[in-house]
Amino acid sequence: MTSPIRTERHDDVLVIISDNPPVNALGAAVRQGLEAAVKQGIADDTIKVMVIRCEGKTFFAGADITEFGKPMQEPALPVLVDMIEASSKPVVAAIHGTALGGGCEVALGCHYRVAVPSAKLGTPEVKLGLLPGAGGTQRLPRLAGVRLALEMTAKGAPIPAEVAAGAGLIDRVVSEDSLAADAIAFAKEVADQRPIPRASEKTVAPDPETVAAFTKENGRRFRGFDAPAANIACVVKATEVPFAEGIQFERQEFMRLMMGTQSAAQRHIFFAERQASKIDGIPADIQLRDIKRVGVIGAGTMGGGISMNFLSAGIPVTIVEMQQEALDRGTGVMRKNYEASATKGRLKPEQVEQAMGALTPTLDFNALAECDLIIEAVYENMDVKKDIFGRLDTLAKPGAILASNTSYLNIDEIAASTNRPQDVVGMHFFSPANVMKLLEVVRGDKTAPDVLATVMALAKKIRKVAVVAGVTYGFIGNRMLMPRQVEANKLLLEGATPEQIDRVHVAFGMPMGPFQMADLAGVDIGWHRDPNRIENVRDALAAEGRWGQKKQAGFYDYDEKRNPSPSPRVAEIINEWRNKTGTPLHEVTDQEIVERTLYPMVNEGALILEEGKAQRASDIDVVWIYGYGWPVYRGGPMFWAKTEGYDKVLAGLEKHGFTVAESLKNGTIK
Ligand code: 3HC
Repeated sequence: MTSPIRTERHDDVLVIISDNPPVNALGAAVRQGLEAAVKQGIADDTIKVMVIRCEGKTFFAGADITEFGKPMQEPALPVLVDMIEASSKPVVAAIHGTALGGGCEVALGCHYRVAVPSAKLGTPEVKLGLLPGAGGTQRLPRLAGVRLALEMTAKGAPIPAEVAAGAGLIDRVVSEDSLAADAIAFAKEVADQRPIPRASEKTVAPDPETVAAFTKENGRRFRGFDAPAANIACVVKATEVPFAEGIQFERQEFMRLMMGTQSAAQRHIFFAERQASKIDGIPADIQLRDIKRVGVIGAGTMGGGISMNFLSAGIPVTIVEMQQEALDRGTGVMRKNYEASATKGRLKPEQVEQAMGALTPTLDFNALAECDLIIEAVYENMDVKKDIFGRLDTLAKPGAILASNTSYLNIDEIAASTNRPQDVVGMHFFSPANVMKLLEVVRGDKTAPDVLATVMALAKKIRKVAVVAGVTYGFIGNRMLMPRQVEANKLLLEGATPEQIDRVHVAFGMPMGPFQMADLAGVDIGWHRDPNRIENVRDALAAEGRWGQKKQAGFYDYDEKRNPSPSPRVAEIINEWRNKTGTPLHEVTDQEIVERTLYPMVNEGALILEEGKAQRASDIDVVWIYGYGWPVYRGGPMFWAKTEGYDKVLAGLEKHGFTVAESLKNGTIK
């Protein structure tokens, strides 16, 4: 097998080049090649200095995550980085793309770093439930100070080359298109400089105030995660003990995290997210349809949010409404959202104008004729949707993709109202659509493969995580929400309070519980508005005008600042319904809430898989992480079921009398 590492000689400079697509991950062959090449450079008397650079789109983007959990082949990355740093001849890292994780650590082990302006440096291990385990937590603070080291390790966001240069992590920012030559020139400049600068030989003073402030600032973000605290502890260690001791602590913490469930869950999601974009049975190189202009029908909250995704990605949008007032209101909200991002510094004012400039608001439905993709985002009513798709059929250009943003309804039925069902697909965005990462792409019976593939590719362009779902009521996410809601409502009558159920869900790691969610979304959503038909607690609340946060009353009472408190009136209503339905009271434990609200979601997920409505269990996990805020450290409901134990889940479901999915019963679930 040929090595991914080769060397080139330029006078007395040895250039060590890695070519390991797609991201130059530091797998065994790369590590072995690097070790051999650096040894060659040290041994060769005609070589004075070395440069390490990568071919392809990026400098090393990290350790090879696929090797985690398997027996480690020599040399281990920390050993390799130490060996580079210990070299008697200077080594220069030449960085482009993203030097991430182990890649960043290789660069920090080098004595000098040069980078192109577009390069980024980062240690995102925390997002995999880990910490930089090849000396990163010890070298970063020594080179860049405690604050930046904390930011980079515990939060995991990469920094641009310019910022890295300002912080002392990059020695020279070179021209974008002459990295190879500029790195050699730089290497010649430093070839004879002694002493050779080594990060491990520096010291950094303890800074408890910064650490305390950082920990406090990020309390909410870190809630429930193990890895941030471990990253912080390692950075603190770097300020307290000699390098060798700090490295030992880092290793021990790295291994502890690596063996834990949280990192396994987070690594699962890393690959699950990438796997989700792959469509079973469709070749990866299928010819895609060209999407130059998108049409959106409806300028409400969903239509506006959906449009913003495309505008932000530079794709022009035609947005259609029935009334001028609704159109103006919708576009006004979009502008306000963009301007809010600009105020927070996330967008430049000219980007706001650019995005809004690419928007064509109109009352003329026929303007959709020039669009390559048309997304219907009107309210959930099958007749209305059928009427719209019938009209689109007569006016849309041939080959245009016709999408519905329905969150429940049958795409096949909608498609049947056209003469081109092959062009019809579901695009279920989540609210707020310009923020939430998930897109459920609903594949109808007749949806053409290239339509599906085009929408999946487009999703990546607008920075969504897309998952393919089959036609089933509520698709993947909302279908799984239903059994949870049914049980939560029953539990209220049996003696649990909304506060208890929500508390259990928040403690589990969800951003909010089912009743907090109902109050936020609106208790009146889906209500038939018939005061004579009050069939459950929720109807009773809606009939009394307790519509949730917007009315300062729902399952909770709210003060002017929207702080919730338990509602005596809700307790009364629950009591009335308990009596009316003759539901016996019992003491509901937190564990029962888990078994009755979370296990049924796993059960529903298993049914969805059995029916072929999701391609794979990991897709279901992706839906729940990105659409509903399931804690990523629990890996999504299907991964969680595995860690909880399928037998335990099965026993819990049976104990509470659920009809259990076959695959859970016979152990074929994976
Ligand atoms: N190991 C193994 N495979 C990796 C990988 C890695 N570190 N990084 C990316 N890949 C794979 C992806 O799974 C994907 O495979 P696929 O095509 O079969 O689905 C392929 O490379 C391309 O990746 P993306 O689709 O993500 O490509 P993008 O161009 O969108 O993004 C990237 C590139 C920014 C480098 C992104 O892949 C990324 O963030 N990678 C992970 C970086 C990371 O977490 N590094 C730290 C690793 S842990 C570590 O280093 C431990 C050390 O401290 C000891």
